[in-house]
Parts: sequence; C-alpha cells; structure tokens
Amino acid sequence: MSKKPTEIKEDEVETTGHVWDGIEEFNNPLPRWWLWTLYATIVWAIGYTIAYPAWPISKEGATPGLLKWSTRADVAAEIKAVDEANAAIENKLASVELTEIAADPELKGYAINAGHAVFQTWCAQCHGSGASGAKGYPNLLDDDWLWGGTVEDIHYTVTHGVRNEDDDDARFSEMPKFGADELLSKEEIEQVVNYVLTISGQTDQADPELAKAGAVVFEDNCSSCHGEDGKGDRDQGAPNLTDAIWLYGGDKDTIRESVNFARFGVMPTWAARLSESDIRAVATYVHQLGGGE
Ligand code: HEC
Ligand code: HEC
Repeated sequence: MSKKPTEIKEDEVETTGHVWDGIEEFNNPLPRWWLWTLYATIVWAIGYTIAYPAWPISKEGATPGLLKWSTRADVAAEIKAVDEANAAIENKLASVELTEIAADPELKGYAINAGHAVFQTWCAQCHGSGASGAKGYPNLLDDDWLWGGTVEDIHYTVTHGVRNEDDDDARFSEMPKFGADELLSKEEIEQVVNYVLTISGQTDQADPELAKAGAVVFEDNCSSCHGEDGKGDRDQGAPNLTDAIWLYGGDKDTIRESVNFARFGVMPTWAARLSESDIRAVATYVHQLGGGE
C-alpha cells in the first residue's frame, strides 16, 4: 500500500508537497510561452471590448466602444453617398415628361438599370424574373396588352394596380360569372365556348353548329367588353380572344372555366411602396422589354 506509483520520476520532478493517501502531486508548471500567450489574449480581449462594440446592453445594441466603429453606420454612409451621387438624375427621372425619358440616353440607361433592380425585387414573384408571366399573370415581353402598352399606360398600371382595394384609382372591371350566377344556360355557355374557339383560330377543336349559335350569345353578352370582333377592350382590361395569347388558357376546358366563374386578376398598387422615380424606372424598364408602344 505504501508503494509510491511514481518512483521512477521522483528524482527528476519536484513535487508541490501535497500528498493524498500517499499520492504526491508533481509540480509541472504550464510552459511559459503558453502562459504568456494566454495573458496576451486576455489583455487583447479587454482592449478589444473597450475599443469596439462588445457588451450587449439592450435589445437594440451593445456598448459602442471608444472607436465608435459600426458596420451599420458604414453601410448607411455608403447608401447615403450613392443616394447623393444619384440625387440629380433621380430628380430628373421623377420630374421630366414620361415620354422624354427614352429620348435622353443617359436618363434612359439609368432608368433601365434601376428599373431592372426594382423589377427583380418587387415584380418578379408574380411576373417571373424574365417578365414572361404565368397563368393569370400577364407576360410583359409581348405586345399584347390588357390595359395598354405605352409608357404612360404602364406607369398608370404600376402606380395604381389592378382590382385592388387599396387604391381608389386602381384599374377596375369585372367579368360576370355567367355559369356560377346562372346568367347563361349550360347550353349557351357551350355555344359561346365553341364560338371563342373559332375566333381564336382553333376551328379543329370547335363544333361548327354550336359555334354558329355562340356568335349570337357572344354578341349579346360578351361584345360589350371583348368587342364586336372579340379583339378586346383596353379601357376594361378585357383580353383579345382572337389571338393565340391567353392569360388563363385557350383550351376548351379553360375557356369554359373562364366563362362559368369569370376571372379577377389583382395587381397591387405601388404608389405607397415605391418612389415616383422607382415607378418611372420600372415602367421604362418594362416598356423597353419588347412590347412597348
Ligand atoms: C401579386 C402579384 C403581382 C405583382 C407583385 C406585380 N404584378 Fe403586375 N400584374 C399582376 C396581375 C394579376 C396582373 C393582371 C391584372 C389583370 O388581370 O388585368 C398584372 C398586370 C400588370 C401590368 C399590365 C399588363 C397589361 O397587359 O396591360 C403591368 C404593366 C404590370 N403588371 C407590371 C408590374 C410591375 C412593374 C410590377 C412590379 C412593380 C408588378 N406588375 C408587380 C400581378 C402582379
Ligand atoms: C364586363 C366585361 C366583360 C364581359 C361582359 C365579359 N368579359 Fe370576359 N373578361 C373580361 C375581363 C376584364 C377579363 C380578364 C379578367 C382578368 O384579367 O382577371 C376577361 C377574361 C375572359 C377570358 C379569359 C381570357 C384569357 O386570356 O385567358 C375569356 C375566355 C372570356 N373572358 C370570355 C368571355 C365570354 C365568352 C364572355 C361572354 C359570355 C365574356 N368574357 C364576357 C371582361 C368581360
């Protein structure tokens, strides 16, 4: 029992003099370089917390530190500098006649760049990042416009939106639910659907007898919005039904669904969320995508 477990090293290493049940404690100090490194990091840490933001003091932030260094302030300063550099051209963009923007190459270039950024942030989720749209969300690349494709039309649509309740000046129109509200019989709906197939060039899908009767139904119920010739009416956002471009779909079932239940596409108003220069920038951007008039 009294045999010491560390006999071999006894001579080489000092002990601290502590003994427990015959076990002695060696005195093996930490290496000097290690200890000094530790002290140095402590000194550095204290210095750092004094010089830089460090101790949380509230939900909002931390002790600011003597150097007052802040990444947020850096970013704010950078944004301010960019805003100041762009102030003159932003003011010009917001104040010139809309149609003059495209005539001034510098202004146009600036508007398209800024408009592209606005589009990717605020419009792409509905219209697609390439602006080619999706079912119910119009393609903005083509020259088929529901509400008009001049830069003024686009500017108005973006400013006030379509069928939203937030803007009294929003573009508005409402197609009746011919089936759901029993404005037309099932038979009449079948007829007019076949007529729409015919005028959109899909005669192979249409029954000529039904389509013939459908022409009368169309004249009485649809032409006030979609036009005598079915080419649509931009004052009411009523789509052209004679082309191959469809907002919701041009096959028989989808046309029947449009007539039965109608459609009610809503686009937000941007007047409250975007500055006038941003709205003009994005209108200019959309206008030059390919379909601008
Ligand atoms: C929440 C979805 C949504 C967002 C976001 C949105 N739009 Fe729309 N937008 C629509 C819908 C839906 C329509 C079609 C309304 C209708 O059926 O008449 C539309 C229509 C339009 C039209 C009219 C097209 C035509 O043929 O006349 C333009 C122009 C347009 N949007 C531009 C924009 C721009 C620019 C933005 C971004 C600032 C934007 N939209 C953001 C849903 C959206
Ligand atoms: C009060 C005006 C109005 C009347 C009347 C009306 N429509 Fe419409 N129609 C619209 C509008 C506006 C839209 C687009 C709705 C939207 O953008 O959400 C539309 C959309 C459609 C569509 C979808 C087109 C597409 O591109 O997908 C079809 C099909 C259609 N109407 C057929 C008819 C037929 C057939 C009738 C008559 C039985 C009719 N409409 C009567 C206003 C009208």
